[in-house]
Amino acid sequence: MRLSERTRQLAQSEIRAISQKINAVNGINLGQGICDMPTPDPIKAAAKRAIDEDRSIYSHYAGAANLRSAILEKVRSYNRIPVESIDQIVVSAGSTGAFATALLTLLNPGDGAILFEPFYGYHRHLLQIFGFEPQYVTLESPEWEVPWQALEDTINPGTRAIVVTTPGNPNGKVWSRAELERLLDIAQRRDLTIIADEIYEYMLYDGREHVSVASLPGGFDRTITLSGFSKTYNMTGWRLGYATGPTDALDNMGLINDLMYICAPTPLQHGVAAAFEMPDRYFSEMASDYDSRRTLMCSTLEKIGFDVVWPQGAYYVLASFEPRSSDPRFSDDATAAATLVDTAGIGTVRGASFFSDPVDGRYLLRFCFAKDIPVLQEACDRLLRAFGTDGS
Ligand SMILES: Cc1ncc(COP(=O)(O)O)c(C=O)c1O
Repeated sequence: MRLSERTRQLAQSEIRAISQKINAVNGINLGQGICDMPTPDPIKAAAKRAIDEDRSIYSHYAGAANLRSAILEKVRSYNRIPVESIDQIVVSAGSTGAFATALLTLLNPGDGAILFEPFYGYHRHLLQIFGFEPQYVTLESPEWEVPWQALEDTINPGTRAIVVTTPGNPNGKVWSRAELERLLDIAQRRDLTIIADEIYEYMLYDGREHVSVASLPGGFDRTITLSGFSKTYNMTGWRLGYATGPTDALDNMGLINDLMYICAPTPLQHGVAAAFEMPDRYFSEMASDYDSRRTLMCSTLEKIGFDVVWPQGAYYVLASFEPRSSDPRFSDDATAAATLVDTAGIGTVRGASFFSDPVDGRYLLRFCFAKDIPVLQEACDRLLRAFGTDGS
């Protein structure tokens, strides 16, 4: 069969390939960014009720009005984004669906969007399959500082948008208010739209605050903010997320959302509306539970000789094994990932997956610590047994 040019860029994601390998050896997968904790009961109960009540027909293409009203309140209070009406909210098939509709709304064929490296792979690949141009700006390791001059130099007349992910996947970078102000200033001067992916907005460590760029003075008119339920409520498979932003853009995103998905699954939208009734302590407990997991994961990696910049947010650590790279089992990221599977039964993602030039990730592996504590403890024990000072 004749296939489109765009399919040439598609490969089975390496993350899935590692998952298959890990399943085959009955190992522990710290590769894929999924959380195996349960979805909160009130959300499950509300979804069951909606199914029993036959709330089964298409909702409004931009989402059920009650859910959009609840999102409006949350975005105003938690994110401090000055959203005025539910017309400025689109519920989509995950934040990924919202990202896709944002791209199709904002960019013409061939237009460019800035991605900061290390990037989240779906951002790059969606840009590419739609025929848009990812334009890369590499954050400066180890602390992932923004190279402001390189950013200015990379923007060209074809650039239309800047994608910023905070807290970041895979590096856990939480953009500070000062950094976001500077980013917004560039967007204003260079007439660009910011697409802010804030899916990990509640996972913050060391007292850091989550700042939405759309909450800054002048930010709302320039920004499409994306978030969703997958990560905060352990429900990646429900496929529910949303976008907020100025009415003209969101009107058109709604129309594109209609063409691509018609609507997000209606009974699940009614179920997830219950998420907004979760008490404040749900979020603080979640953040502190993840903090304990972060400590366990990062200190284990340090004990086995990795260089670790502890993530400021989200639930991944992108750790460097360069100090061990004279060991042939750790000569590069593909070899190190295979070594961890074969020797310890631990799945990770190789650094090359997060950079346009694979060489930039050659000494990095990403570990996801969104696991039940006993599972994560077992994974860390395996790493220590295999590579700790006694086992190395
Ligand atoms: C940065 C980022 N954005 C979006 C997503 C996907 O979110 P959703 O399930 O809402 O599509 C992920 C999942 O790993 C992610 O890491």
